[in-house]
This record gives sequence, C-alpha cells and structure tokens, in this order.
Amino acid sequence: MEQILVAEDIYKTYRTASGPVRALQGISLSFETGLFYAVIGRSGSGKSTLLHVLSGLDRPDQGTVRVEGRDLYACSDHQMAIFRRRYTGFVFQQYNLLDEYNVRTNICMPLTLDGRKADRQFLDQLTKILMLEDKLDRYPEELSGGEQQRVAIARSVIARPRLIFADEPTGNLDRKTGEETMKLLKSCAKAFGQTLIVVTHDLETAREADRLIHIEDGRVTGKKEGE
Ligand SMILES: Nc1ncnc2c1ncn2[C@@H]1O[C@H](COP(=O)(O)OP(=O)(O)OP(=O)(O)O)[C@@H](O)[C@H]1O
Ligand SMILES: [Mg+2]
Repeated sequence: MEQILVAEDIYKTYRTASGPVRALQGISLSFETGLFYAVIGRSGSGKSTLLHVLSGLDRPDQGTVRVEGRDLYACSDHQMAIFRRRYTGFVFQQYNLLDEYNVRTNICMPLTLDGRKADRQFLDQLTKILMLEDKLDRYPEELSGGEQQRVAIARSVIARPRLIFADEPTGNLDRKTGEETMKLLKSCAKAFGQTLIVVTHDLETAREADRLIHIEDGRVTGKKEGE
C-alpha cells in the first residue's frame, strides 16, 4: 500500500528552566494511505508532541518527516503553512474555534485562508453527516461541547486533506457523544480516503483502529494491527 507519511528517527527536546525535557527520543513510523491509526500512551509520553511534529506544526530537533516523499521540514515556513492548509486537518482537544465567526465560517476557514471557496455540495454533505445542518448560523458559544467538537471535525475535513490529526478529540465529551463523534470522524475519513491519526485514552477507540501505536517516554514501544 502507498505510504503517505514517513517519520524517521525523530528527536525533540524542550528546554525548560529546570532542564531539558526529552519529549521524543528516536521515533520512526510510517503511515499508509486511508488507514486509521490510534496513538496511545501515558500522560506526558510525547503523544501531542509527536502529532505536532508529524503535522508540520512543530519542527523536530532531528529526523525527517516525509509526506508523499517530500521532506516536510526542508521547506520554508511559508511553504509549510501552505502544506498544513492543503494536506492536513487538525482537531485540537480544546476545539480552537473562532468565537467571533459563525459555524459556517469556522468550518470553511481552512479554505478561506487558502483563497478557495467551499464546494456547496460537499459542505451540505459534511454538515449532514455531522448533524450540523441547522447550526450553521450559530456562534461557537451558542453550542454544546459535542457540537463544537463536531464543528472542529467538519473544519478539519472541509478542504479534504489527505491527513487528519486529532488529539484526544473525545476527551471532553461524555461517553455516548464521544463514541458518536469518533464514528463520524471515521466515516468521514473512510468516505474521503483520508488517513486518520488519533491520540486517544479511550480503549474502545484504540481497539477499533486499523493500527495501534504505543508511545512510552518518547519512544515507540509497541505497534500492532487493530482487531
Ligand atoms: N511546550 C513545552 N515546554 C516544555 N515541555 C513540554 C512542552 N510541551 C510538552 N512538554 C513536555 O514534553 C513531554 C511530552 O509532552 P506531550 O504533551 O507530548 O505528552 P502527551 O503524551 O501528549 O501527554 P497528555 O496525555 O497528558 O496530553 C512531557 O514531559 C511534557 O511535560
Ligand atoms: Mg497530549
């Protein structure tokens, strides 16, 4: 199968007043197009840092990240910003919606920033799958946590990025809403052939993934196929 994303020998150390924190210590991973990956590991093991490095949000100290064969961090910052917009969608744990814009504008933001318009039909389809059709004119503060999370998911998918990264997308949701949200994220990814990389504490989500990546102390300690 085609490998969309390959990380080789990634190191990342944070400098803090109390000394260096070695967040990633030699991580090599490859990701195949269209699969669903779950990243698990204890708090502080380096999962968020890994996601940031893989998605072009944060430069590693050492190692390479290749997307479709292209060396991501060999690009200029400007090129990287373009890459992030066109290739990746990111669902943050705290949603990161823009309060001053309504739901429609929030969802379409990745396209707007790229000077593109939303494909009307796709927007309709997406908001229907995510049950947001009647929320498009509302503002984030007028939505529940689960609804805001679904808006964040719609926003991560709207530009049809090849890669979707989600950092504990269900962390703040109750169990049922969390399950529904994951189901929606997965069905979006499957429908559009996207590669999905999700950090999760939820065992059920991890079990349903095509591949499981276990991180401990900034290293991959286990990889396995999902059940
Ligand atoms: N900006 C930062 N400055 C300094 N240290 C950091 C920074 N971000 C993370 N760290 C440290 O790097 C290590 C890895 O953090 P990271 O956020 O990647 O862990 P995580 O696996 O995502 O944890 P959690 O499950 O709690 O979200 C931790 O020891 C953390 O304290
Ligand atoms: Mg984290």
